[in-house]
Amino acid sequence: MKLIAPSILSADFTRLGEEIRAVEAAGADWIHVDVMDGHFVPNITMGPLIAAAARRAAAMPIDVHLMIENPDACIPDFAKSGADWICVQAEACTHLNRTLQLIREQKCRAGVALNPATPPRAVEWVLELVDYVLVMSVNPGFGGQAFIPNSLEKIRMLRAMLDEKGSDALIQVDGGVNLSTIADVSAAGADCFVAGSAIYGAEDYAAVISAFREKMEAAA
Ligand code: DX5
Ligand code: ZN
Repeated sequence: MKLIAPSILSADFTRLGEEIRAVEAAGADWIHVDVMDGHFVPNITMGPLIAAAARRAAAMPIDVHLMIENPDACIPDFAKSGADWICVQAEACTHLNRTLQLIREQKCRAGVALNPATPPRAVEWVLELVDYVLVMSVNPGFGGQAFIPNSLEKIRMLRAMLDEKGSDALIQVDGGVNLSTIADVSAAGADCFVAGSAIYGAEDYAAVISAFREKMEAAA
């Protein structure tokens, strides 16, 4: 089962509830919340208050992507806000094993995101604590950037590693996913597709989500 997770980073924040309900009605599977702290990445976006608002707006799982330093300090607040899935950047975690345990103790699914320069082996020794691995296919910080082509090779390497280790963790891909890139991303072995500008920048959310689904399923 392939999943589509629109990122509210590209939504119209003056109408956030409406924007979330619109992608849910248009066939989205998850809602992706991009949290940035102005330290790990140069941008500042949203916190637990917005995750809680997203929770109230939608029945879909809430997927929180923490692009922040010291995520341990905030994980309990995001769990309380109603997050279902929480992922941390491997590069921001000195004690990744402990951080993943903390996410699961909060009754959330735990994920690790890998920057474009971070190799797949960064998750090799924590796989038993991981429900999803997020391959960043842009440098985190902003929506609307171009897909980095070598991400496809990283997805293939990760797929092989997960299969070899018997892990059923999902592979999520985030950054530059659009109608031109999604087929290749799907064929490489990704399960969950985050898209901000390609969905919220479109006139018709249902049309773009069903076009996504056609391309990713044809390529799978
Ligand atoms: C980037 C964020 C992404 C971003 C994707 O730092 O993690 O989730 O919203 O945006 P697009 O789909 O526009 O590349
Ligand atoms: Zn993201």
